[in-house]
Amino acid sequence: ASTLGAAAARSGRYFGTAISASKLGDSQYTTIANREFNMVTAENEMKIDATEPNRGQFTFTNADRIYNWAVQNGKRVRGHTLAWHQQQPGWMQSLSGSSLRQAMIDHINGVMSHYKGKIYAWDVVNEAFDDSNGGRRDSNLQRTGNDWIEVAFRTARAADPDAKLCYNDYNTDNWTWAKTQGVYNMVKDFKQRGVPIDCVGFQSHFNSGSPYNSNYRTTLSSFAALGVDVQITELDIQGASAQTYANVVNDCLAVPRCNGITVWGVRDSDSWRSGDTPLLFDGNGNKKAAYTSVLDALNAA
Ligand code: G3I
Repeated sequence: ASTLGAAAARSGRYFGTAISASKLGDSQYTTIANREFNMVTAENEMKIDATEPNRGQFTFTNADRIYNWAVQNGKRVRGHTLAWHQQQPGWMQSLSGSSLRQAMIDHINGVMSHYKGKIYAWDVVNEAFDDSNGGRRDSNLQRTGNDWIEVAFRTARAADPDAKLCYNDYNTDNWTWAKTQGVYNMVKDFKQRGVPIDCVGFQSHFNSGSPYNSNYRTTLSSFAALGVDVQITELDIQGASAQTYANVVNDCLAVPRCNGITVWGVRDSDSWRSGDTPLLFDGNGNKKAAYTSVLDALNAA
């Protein structure tokens, strides 16, 4: 196959990208995105501050621009993200305790009902674990009680029973890291107790501080063995080594429940860390060596 999406589809997987509503008028951007990818994540437009700028007042203008562009072009959509300590609107940052807990529940219900039956998978909870100690990250949501994550997942299941429900995080790719083990133990506990969770997203923002490690495949297969799908949700690699990109793709292909890969942007110039040139297309829209290595790895499966 000659595009990333079609090559991934050979093994029943998807290949996606993050999309920004502000770039949908850039024809070079939309041409590449439409040609290469068959799954779309809104880079910012479905986040809490974007969708509920005032309490109880939902706005989906930019989120729907991305959703409609994706669906009109035959792509599926990953929802990102419903409960997170970042990109909270000011009104939510000022809440605590039971009123914050209720606001989280109301937010999940408000956004998921707008997209009911239309989203492939939701990142229900994003980045809830501490970076080093294996425990929960301190945040206003965490301070509402340790059960906030399972309440978010139960709320999400009731709001849209057709969406896969994911936990999504970064620095959870290295199997030896405490953070990875912390998330693993939570998912294991959720599966044992029947808390609804269908998938785990591995953001996979690789750089010199948190580089790709060959135990990534062990991480993906260990989580999958708990009975969840695993997805690579925000892939970018500082310097875009063709070999490292191929390794990541091959690790996903080796795990039957790794059902898709999303890169966090189209061209290097679109990246949240453009100085790292971490993506598959350069700033002029040309395919980089990493692009060819990803395509070849997918086509070899
Ligand atoms: O929309 C405003 C614009 O009006 C203003 O002129 C401009 C000035 O700086 O800021 C614009 O908002 C920025 C937004 O990106 C859109 O470009 C925000 O300041 C900026 O904070 C925001 O950054 C996003 C970041 O999440 C915020 O946490 C990145 O684009 C986005 O790539 C990044 O994505 C996250 C995932 O959601 C979760 N995992 C990590 C990943 C990378 O940080």
